[in-house]
Amino acid sequence: MTLQDALKRIETNFTVSAEVLKEISQGFYDEMELGLTQTGNAIPMNVTWVTEKPTGNEQGEYLSIDLGGTNMRVVLVTLKGDSKFDSVQSKYNLPAWIKTGTANELWSFIAEYLEEFLLKQYQNIPEETLPLGFSFSFATTQGNINEGVLQSWSKGFDVKGVEGHDVVPMLQKAIDKRSLPVKITALINDTTGTLVASLYTDPLTKMGLIFGTGVNGAYYDTTDQIPKLGISQSSPMAINTEYGSFDSSHRYLPRTFFDVAIDNSSTRPGEQTYEKMVAGYYMGELLRLLLVDLYYRRYIFQGQDVSQLNVPYIMDTSYLASAEQDSDDLPTIGSMFESLGLATTLKERQLIQTLSKLIATRAARLAACSIAAICKRTNVDSGNIACDGSVISKYPFFKERIENALAEILDWSERPYPLQIVQAEDGSSVGAAIIACIAQKSI
Ligand code: BGC
Repeated sequence: MTLQDALKRIETNFTVSAEVLKEISQGFYDEMELGLTQTGNAIPMNVTWVTEKPTGNEQGEYLSIDLGGTNMRVVLVTLKGDSKFDSVQSKYNLPAWIKTGTANELWSFIAEYLEEFLLKQYQNIPEETLPLGFSFSFATTQGNINEGVLQSWSKGFDVKGVEGHDVVPMLQKAIDKRSLPVKITALINDTTGTLVASLYTDPLTKMGLIFGTGVNGAYYDTTDQIPKLGISQSSPMAINTEYGSFDSSHRYLPRTFFDVAIDNSSTRPGEQTYEKMVAGYYMGELLRLLLVDLYYRRYIFQGQDVSQLNVPYIMDTSYLASAEQDSDDLPTIGSMFESLGLATTLKERQLIQTLSKLIATRAARLAACSIAAICKRTNVDSGNIACDGSVISKYPFFKERIENALAEILDWSERPYPLQIVQAEDGSSVGAAIIACIAQKSI
């Protein structure tokens, strides 16, 4: 087999036709319905207890902490009413040892940086208690707005002693230990935050999605349409779908050998099947695995030292994003691989660009399947889909590729398409503040 043949094979395996997209989307719809009916399903459809939509008139100063991606953020949000807000934030890189260490280390780390932030923002730390919305971007079971029992870590996080526990008292304890005047009044998911923050400024918002380190989506359902709640009264209820876990039974998604390899070597094999094909955390690793395979089959980088390429997760999504945007002779790809100790020929660089495009296009097309399923569930056929996360904000053409795939699934033929993907920056922290405000009112 020539390199050309090998590439053809990869192309076939990574291309998802419109017909398959439609089938996957129907599978999504079915699993979502099931998740609303009973607990313990592939897509958990977590009830958030966010039972109101924001009016845009919410006001006040709220703190929020955002945990769940590459960085942790502490934000002070001033809701000014009239759909306006201001925010100041500090971003802290989360070291790898924190993501896989002990619960105590994680909560103390967050409390320490919260204190540092407060000292920076206020000359004197205020005496009155500051309400805080905690945006915790993992699957949690919530019995009310102010608690969240971690179902399962994802995105490479694996902190011992947290799964199965309510994270709110854990963080609160670390905050209290430092005698900070801060009370966690709401626990939210980043998707719910994005949904609520976007609705605060844009009433046409239909759902809040994250395309970043992980993927997930939230939308408003109606209580009497959620059988597992057993409530006959009809009122809004935001649902954090946790759709990254779609297809744990492997019925729908066209997984390749490389997807299976990523799953098998992950911290949680068998979980987050869909996320592992769509999210930023895994795209670089997919590219790396494809290249390693081509090297060992003697197609590329012959005679070179591939020790760095052999390091799991050494390449992040920015490799693919830069590769897709590179100019004619692909100098950026050249220098990226030089920093991994590899010299590349033009042909190899072209191959890297082609593989990047295949991986990211598949991710964007699969991303459209969950959106179409939520549209079907909520009878939505127009409006705005608010998205946040590093992939949607930084990856070239990701948004357009999702829109085009949506058009294929929903049979749209004319532009402008009736649903627009819009970017919702910092949705999770602003949303956490708004939800903290709503929660405070209802206490
Ligand atoms: C988590 C979700 C989160 C998503 C995006 C997933 O791994 O399970 O709770 O919303 O990542 O951050």
